Amino acid sequence: MGGQNPFLKSAAAKLPTKPYEITFLPLGRRITVRPEELPYSRDGQKGSILEIALGHGIEVDHACGGVCACSTCHVIVQSGGESLPPASDDEEDQLDNAPGLTAKSRLACQAVPDGSCDVVVEIPSWNRNLVREEPH
Ligand code: FES
Repeated sequence: MGGQNPFLKSAAAKLPTKPYEITFLPLGRRITVRPEELPYSRDGQKGSILEIALGHGIEVDHACGGVCACSTCHVIVQSGGESLPPASDDEEDQLDNAPGLTAKSRLACQAVPDGSCDVVVEIPSWNRNLVREEPH
């Protein structure tokens, strides 16, 4: 499944206009990528943290296909959160069901960096993701 949830109104996110880096911290590893050539996939909003991760071989659980209907894509934005739009009410509702919620928690499928700064994203250890690519 992928695309958009037809039952939710999602505002078009502002896409980056300049290069930026996003660093993923899965399972104690550190992988930095420079998002280009969007879209990478049909999962999550265009330019979302989920889409970027999947496009770079970094698995993030996304049971609903990235349509804001679960909380399995829960990530913690350690820095650069100011480049993300505020979470919608629908995102907040789903996050309420996520384990280990923090003030910096976001749904990876809904959070779209605008490229105004670099972003560091922790993929929580309870999210049983596996990284498919080797470290750089
Ligand atoms: S994948 Fe279901 S809410 Fe993000």
